[in-house]
Amino acid sequence: MEKTMAKCPADFDFFSPEVIESPFEFYEVIRREAPVYHLPGTEIYMVSRWEDIRQINRDTATFSNDFQELLKGPEPSPEAAEIYASGYAQPPTLLTLDPPQHKVYRSLINKVFSAKRVEGMRDYIEQVVDELIDEFIDSGECEFVRDFATPLPVYVIADQLGVPRKDLRRIKAWSDAFASRLGGMASAEEEVENARLIVEYQNYMAGIIADRRENPQDDMISDLANNLIKPPEGERLMTVEELLSMIEQLLVAGNETTTSATTGGLLSLIQLSDQLQALLDDPAMIANAVEEILRLESPSAGLWRVVTRDVELRGVAIPKGSLLMLRYAAANRDEQVFDNPEVMDVCRHNADDHIAFGYGTHFCPGAFLGRKEMQVAYERILARMTNIRLAEGKNDLTHWPNMVLRGLKELHITFEPRAAQAAPAAMEA
Ligand code: HEM
Repeated sequence: MEKTMAKCPADFDFFSPEVIESPFEFYEVIRREAPVYHLPGTEIYMVSRWEDIRQINRDTATFSNDFQELLKGPEPSPEAAEIYASGYAQPPTLLTLDPPQHKVYRSLINKVFSAKRVEGMRDYIEQVVDELIDEFIDSGECEFVRDFATPLPVYVIADQLGVPRKDLRRIKAWSDAFASRLGGMASAEEEVENARLIVEYQNYMAGIIADRRENPQDDMISDLANNLIKPPEGERLMTVEELLSMIEQLLVAGNETTTSATTGGLLSLIQLSDQLQALLDDPAMIANAVEEILRLESPSAGLWRVVTRDVELRGVAIPKGSLLMLRYAAANRDEQVFDNPEVMDVCRHNADDHIAFGYGTHFCPGAFLGRKEMQVAYERILARMTNIRLAEGKNDLTHWPNMVLRGLKELHITFEPRAAQAAPAAMEA
C-alpha cells in the first residue's frame, strides 16, 4: 500500500501491455494525483473521477461526440479505400452526433428499446440462455466466452433485428470487422478483409431493409425502417445509409460489451465464493449483483470526446481540438462515491450509481437489454450448474489488448449439472 501511495502518474505507461492488462493501480493514482491527466506525447486527456465525467457529459457543446473519423480508424490503404468506395457512404448517426441532431435518431431508438419491450423479452431471453447451456451442460465443461457469452447477445440482437439464424456467423464476423477497424491495429491484409466484410454487411443489410419496407414484420429493422424521423426540415424515413449506420452501432455497441461483462462477472463469482453463496442464498440479489459486476467490469472502459474550445478542467488547460478519454472504468472505482471500491459486494447499496452505461445524452439505449441478458444468464447458470470451477491448467485470464473495450479472451470452466428442477437457494455452491 505504501508503495502505491508513493507512485505518480508518470510511473505508468498507459499504452504498455502491462497497464492495459491491469490498469487499476494506474486509475487509483490518476484519480488522486491527476484527475485530468495529459497522457504524455499525445493530445489525449484522461478524466477519471465520477463527478467530473458526469459534469462533462452535461456540456455537449464543449465536449462533443463528433468523433466519426476516429471511429473509422486510420486512413484506409488504397486497396481498402477502393472496396469501401464500392459500398454505401457512412453518415454519422447516433453515437457520433451532438444535440440537436442526435435526438433525431435517438428518439426512434428509445422507442425500439423501451423498458417495456425488453421486459416482454424475458421468456425469450431465458429460452436462448437455456438452449446455449443445453449445448454443453452434459460435458461438464465449456469455454464460457466462446460457448455462452459471445453467442448470447449476438443471438438476441440478431433475432430482434430479424436476421435469420443461419446468418449468425456472418453477423459476428461483421461485428468483429467493425471492432477491428476501430481498434486501429489491423495488418494490411486484415484491413482489406475488414473492408470486404463491412461492404458485405452493407449489401446484406440493405437487402433486409428493402425486404422489411416491402413486408414489415414485428422486428427492430421493420421499426427502424418504417418509422419516421423528425429532423427540422421535416419528417421522413431514414435513408439506407442512415439505417446501416444505426444497425452497425447496435451490433458493435451491444455484443462485445455484454459478452465481456457476463464473462468477467462469472470469473469474480467463481473466485469469491462468499459472493456466489450470497446469490445462491437469495437469487433475488442477482439484479443488484449485475450492477456491481457492471461497476467493476466496465467493459466500455473509456469513450472519446472532442474538445470544441479552449477550456480548463481541474486547473489543466486543454486546447481546442484535444481529445478527452472519459475513463468510465476508473470512475466506477472512485472512492468518493463507492466505499472499498476495489472490493466486489453484491449487496452494495449504491452499486447502480455506476456509469458503466455512460451518463446523459449518450446513455446506453441498450442498458435494459444488456442488464436483462446478464440477469437471466446468471439466474439460469446458478439454477442449472453447481460446483463451477476454473478448468485446471487452461486459463491465463488475460484480456484483449484494447484501449476502449475490456474483456477476457477466454474462460475455461468445469461444473456439474444440478438435478432437474432444483431450486438454487436449497443447494450448496
Ligand atoms: C453490458 C452491456 C453494455 C455496456 C457496458 C454498454 C456501454 C455503453 C456506454 C458506456 C455508452 C455511452 C457512450 C458514450 O458515453 O459516448 C453506450 C452507448 C450505446 N450503446 Fe451500449 N452498452 C452495453 C450494451 C448495449 C446493447 C445491448 C446495445 C444494443 C443492442 C447497446 C447500444 C448502444 C448504442 C446504440 C449506444 C450509443 C447511444 C447514443 O449515442 O445515444 N449497448 N453503451
